[in-house]
Amino acid sequence: MNREKNGKAKRHKKDNFQSVEVKGKYMETTKAIHLRRSIRRYLPDPVDRELIKEILEDAMWAPSGVNLQPWYYVVLTSEEDMNLLKGIMAEMAGRLTPELEERFRKNPDVVKHTTGFLQTLGDAPACALVFYQTPQEPEKVTMVMSLGASAQNFCLSAADKGLGTCMIGPNFSPETMENMRQIFAPDKGPLGCLITLGYPKITPKAPRRKDGRWVIR
Ligand SMILES: Cc1cc2nc3c(=O)[nH]c(=O)nc-3n(C[C@H](O)[C@H](O)[C@H](O)COP(=O)(O)O)c2cc1C
Repeated sequence: MNREKNGKAKRHKKDNFQSVEVKGKYMETTKAIHLRRSIRRYLPDPVDRELIKEILEDAMWAPSGVNLQPWYYVVLTSEEDMNLLKGIMAEMAGRLTPELEERFRKNPDVVKHTTGFLQTLGDAPACALVFYQTPQEPEKVTMVMSLGASAQNFCLSAADKGLGTCMIGPNFSPETMENMRQIFAPDKGPLGCLITLGYPKITPKAPRRKDGRWVIR
């Protein structure tokens, strides 16, 4: 928005900018970044819709290539929808099991935990399905990164409010992905990822961060 000499805002015909107001009632960003964990076991307590709206609003404020905002969130909160989703996930996890058993022959616990979480979604009371707006978007790396940035905003905002999340996928079969799109967002692009949402029952220890992943020159 341009400002005229007398200080009054002058609106362009096509004004793409807006002022931002943030209420500072939550924890610091750095704390949220470090304390956020992927949660795989949830309490049954529902998540307040107003809180979900706040989290979604934060997800909308992620950066995106040419500000395209290529995401579309569908947040499931009803038992009916969650059971429908878990049914699809359980079917997919069943198909995935032989491949995982082969890959983790020496470590069967990994298979048990991975498929267990996919089947039950850790009993999360809610789950966000993050779709692309159009079918072509996931072909562009910029758009994949943009959706990831928004998903991370979602997770950090939830952590800020004492809620747990876990990003999942989207390495499901094309049939599973299309099935979810048809059911939950038939007029949108493909599924980008799932994000479980709820109050943590178990918060795992932070997985170790690898050394040697950055340099300052
Ligand atoms: C794109 C993406 C996909 C993921 N998919 C899964 C998944 O399918 N199952 C799972 O249990 N965790 C999944 N995770 C969570 C990671 O395992 C987790 O972020 C990592 O182990 C680090 O742990 P932290 O998030 O608690 O710091 C995913 C994370 C990302 C970013």
